[in-house]
Amino acid sequence: MKLVKPVAADRLSALLRQMPKAELHIHIEGSLEPELIFALAERNGVALPYASVDALRSAYAFTNLQSFLDIYYAGASVLITEQDFYDMARAYLLKAAQDNVVHAELFFDPQTHTARGVSMETVINGLHRACVDAQAELGVSASLILCFLRHLSEEDAFETLDQALPFQEKFIGIGLDSGEVGNPPEKFARVFARCRELGFHLVAHAGEEGPPAYIWTALDLLKVERIDHGVQATKDAALMQRLAKDRIALTVCPLSNLKLCVFPDLASHNLRQLLDAGLAATVNSDDPAYFGGYLNENFTQTFAAGPLDAEHAYRLARNSFEASFIDSATKQRHIDRLDANFEAFH
Ligand code: HPA
Ligand code: ZN
Repeated sequence: MKLVKPVAADRLSALLRQMPKAELHIHIEGSLEPELIFALAERNGVALPYASVDALRSAYAFTNLQSFLDIYYAGASVLITEQDFYDMARAYLLKAAQDNVVHAELFFDPQTHTARGVSMETVINGLHRACVDAQAELGVSASLILCFLRHLSEEDAFETLDQALPFQEKFIGIGLDSGEVGNPPEKFARVFARCRELGFHLVAHAGEEGPPAYIWTALDLLKVERIDHGVQATKDAALMQRLAKDRIALTVCPLSNLKLCVFPDLASHNLRQLLDAGLAATVNSDDPAYFGGYLNENFTQTFAAGPLDAEHAYRLARNSFEASFIDSATKQRHIDRLDANFEAFH
């Protein structure tokens, strides 16, 4: 492992902002800023139950995951046309480029849209076109991960998969999101097995609010390659050993955990504990328009609150590339650039 030079505390924020990084846990519908929600509502003639951008933003006071999801699904109701999906993803990718994100894997929730009569083709084509343009115009590589909503049935997930398969060249993986508690991974064992046969990468949200048992079943029954969130793992020593031994990445989202009251403050967050136990933790933004910041805000606020240094910054950025679903030669190129970046920083 590379030797990382110490960096003075007042330079750490600059290091975090400028280091190249990958983002692996971003729900693209969670990047929809209130201003864009209002602009799309007007463009599409959709009535919103909020008088203004400020009134909407002031409703963003969450007590747990479900209190957020109710507003998040309402916000997504303004997305109707392919151009809407393009504009949403484009806005996120521009922010990502500003944060020196060089690779992003974007979650999307097709059931939120198909249930309103928007076609799968509209959703996927708009998002995919934004990913293609980001590579050419922003130098950011981006790919898509289709998430099943776990509060819906497995049958609904199978139907969603069928609708998406004509566009299977346009997404690389399958995830599982929405309300966790009461919707354990095993509910989706058969549809994940089918997705695995089809050759998709597999991930799942587990251990955000749900117990460590959900992380075990995501690994053993769904056979996922990464765990989204996973912060409840520290409650189970055997699970911590398993995650470390198999280098299963956790896509941790500190500001999300703060805003959804998973931890009372960032100083109490267990990111450092996960890293010190040898886990492949990464930092991500989850739903940046709702949780108060994009990727660099997650890094800088978390490091400002806790005992984390340049060595941790390097490990988090390196983990983000190692855990990504990019080919190994490209991964190595990103890691070489990261190393050069740390060498040159002073
Ligand atoms: N957890 C589960 N589902 C979600 C989230 C999350 O943090 N964000 C968007 N959908
Ligand atoms: Zn998430």
